[in-house]
Amino acid sequence: MRTIVSLEDVSLHYHSKNGETPAVSHLNLEVFQGEFLSIVGPSGCGKSSLLSMLSGLLKPSSGTISIDGEIGYMLQKDHLLEWRTVKENALLGLEIKGMLTPENTSYVEHLLEQYGLGAFMEQYPSQLSGGMRQRVALIRTLAIHPDILLLDEPFSALDYQTRLTVSDEIGSIIRKEKKTAILVSHDISEAISLSDRVVVFSARPATIKNIHTIELSIGEHSPMQTREAPEFREYFNRIWKELDIHVESEKTTTS
Ligand SMILES: Nc1ncnc2c1ncn2[C@@H]1O[C@H](COP(=O)(O)OP(=O)(O)OP(=O)(O)O)[C@@H](O)[C@H]1O
Ligand SMILES: [Mg+2]
Repeated sequence: MRTIVSLEDVSLHYHSKNGETPAVSHLNLEVFQGEFLSIVGPSGCGKSSLLSMLSGLLKPSSGTISIDGEIGYMLQKDHLLEWRTVKENALLGLEIKGMLTPENTSYVEHLLEQYGLGAFMEQYPSQLSGGMRQRVALIRTLAIHPDILLLDEPFSALDYQTRLTVSDEIGSIIRKEKKTAILVSHDISEAISLSDRVVVFSARPATIKNIHTIELSIGEHSPMQTREAPEFREYFNRIWKELDIHVESEKTTTS
């Protein structure tokens, strides 16, 4: 297994008028090529901060990050431009990077066709469902040929039903295109069903509490089906306990 991302003793502090906020503390982690890795952790613990460091937007305060490949970043909101067609949206990343070659354009057309958007290329985002919009956003990210996809809660704007289907779809597209993915999710089931490994973060500053290697007896099935594997519940319960958010969630459900 080739290591594609490696974190060595990585810490991050934010500096502001009111002092220092430690966001990430002494992280050590290796991500392997082709792996689907999820990160779960309490709200505000430092998950997005880690992705910002991986994408190069922020520099770690200390420690080393090594990345052996091109990064593509997909955010929570799809950020499609309403005045551009689906195809023009999918080409946006290439345009910004000055990579709008005929080969890359036909690669995008191929992806749009392959993933059920062929008939919508000349339409506008407002004519698409939430799941289709999310697929366009993924294709826009794939267009620049990233080796590693960073996904920061990409499904959280979708309703529950759509979310199940779309996370299934996006997961299988990523596997089919043989990408390495690092997904931040607050949905434990989603993380288990999509991933090879699930990393559990502590409350801020984020440290690694545990790493679960997901092995489900159901084998190579869709993420939706893996939720039926007998081990699924065990992983869920263990991760739920580690997240240690019971008190908070009880408060919110009874209030
Ligand atoms: N630019 C910034 N300057 C100062 N503090 C920041 C900045 N960005 C984030 N923080 C703080 O760092 C901590 C971690 O934030 P981060 O966005 O990484 O958490 P998160 O795990 O992604 O949270 P969520 O689950 O809510 O998305 C939070 O306490 C946040 O307030
Ligand atoms: Mg976040």
